[in-house]
Amino acid sequence: MNKQKVLVTGGAGYIGSHACVELLEAGFDVVVVDNLANSKPESLARVQRITGKTLAFYQADIRDQAALTAIFAKETPTTVIHFAGLKAVGESCQQPQLYYHNNVYGTLVLTEVMAEANVKQLVFSSSATVYGESESPQYSEHFPLGAINPYGRSKAMIEDILRDLSTADTLNQAPNPWKIALLRYFNPIGAHQSGLIGEDPNGIPNNLMPYVAQVAIGKLPQLSVFGDDYPTPDGTGIRDYIHVVDLVKGHIKAIAALNSDKFLAGGCKAYNLGTGQGYSVLEIIQAFERVTEKPINYKISPRRAGDLAECFANPNLARQELNWKVEKNLDDMVADTWNWQTKNPRGYD
Ligand SMILES: NC(=O)c1ccc[n+]([C@@H]2O[C@H](COP(=O)([O-])OP(=O)(O)OC[C@H]3O[C@@H](n4cnc5c(N)ncnc54)[C@H](O)[C@@H]3O)[C@@H](O)[C@H]2O)c1
Repeated sequence: MNKQKVLVTGGAGYIGSHACVELLEAGFDVVVVDNLANSKPESLARVQRITGKTLAFYQADIRDQAALTAIFAKETPTTVIHFAGLKAVGESCQQPQLYYHNNVYGTLVLTEVMAEANVKQLVFSSSATVYGESESPQYSEHFPLGAINPYGRSKAMIEDILRDLSTADTLNQAPNPWKIALLRYFNPIGAHQSGLIGEDPNGIPNNLMPYVAQVAIGKLPQLSVFGDDYPTPDGTGIRDYIHVVDLVKGHIKAIAALNSDKFLAGGCKAYNLGTGQGYSVLEIIQAFERVTEKPINYKISPRRAGDLAECFANPNLARQELNWKVEKNLDDMVADTWNWQTKNPRGYD
């Protein structure tokens, strides 16, 4: 069989760069399309250093239909992993149009170009933020959707569009129907164990782990813990943190599933990618203190609007149908975050 070529949108970003490492190590050819809105090309130089393999890189915006069409014509990929998107919840509330234009319109352009090129195999970066309120804190794929901010809604809209594309192919008895995996990430953290690639947030981090890491290294003075009066054992919010390397391995497994008999007739299916185990904010702080042997300066602040007390994945579907399971534990996540942070105190700069 010919080597499969995967086009990775947003491949220079945090999760995308880790996916490129796994793809190259699994023997795929890799083409990255990224406009570098939230990343640096150095990440891709490091991907090539880690793997000793090369990839093709195009600095382009996925909304640029002409550029994308030319890249598809030249590279003829067989599959697309679509990471490109803006992801800051707060910013999405302030600039919803930007988020809908970049994420939703960008995906429309991408899927049009893909259909035109007859490349109809897609793995999409969705998010647990698509879920609505639920009775149970452990979320399964069939739970009702109901995102509560523009970022989450942009992901939910994209899921709807992709499901509709797949349904239309079934109705039309398309000879080469869409095969789509919607991967709903819980909270990706950690870094490649080499310490060469990791999360390099612009400005003040939005997420807990890079924030804690920057407090530990002295770049930020103090962590705010939002709420210690939730109905959880220690009162702080509980989330499902997943090592980014485990997460990206889920994408390789998803490609294998799309290539298998399971998707022979096409389809669009959602899978949770989480560990199934929740940790509280205080447990994360304690794990960080344990691994780094440094105290973390934190203060308790009021709850934030919209935050749930507890949210973690039911990962059984991905386990059964993608044959995927996590291999790394919380201490690995913290140790790899710290390794990246101490080796690159200023990120890729
Ligand atoms: N990190 C998380 O916590 C998390 C959780 C759930 C889902 N996701 C989703 O996973 C994907 C990757 O997230 P990440 O953490 O690696 O973010 P990231 O910002 O590090 O990576 C996204 C990449 O996409 C690029 N990009 C953005 N808009 C683009 C456009 N219009 N054209 C071309 N490139 C564009 C950025 O430059 C960046 O390199 C995103 O779609 C995000 O919404 C992330």
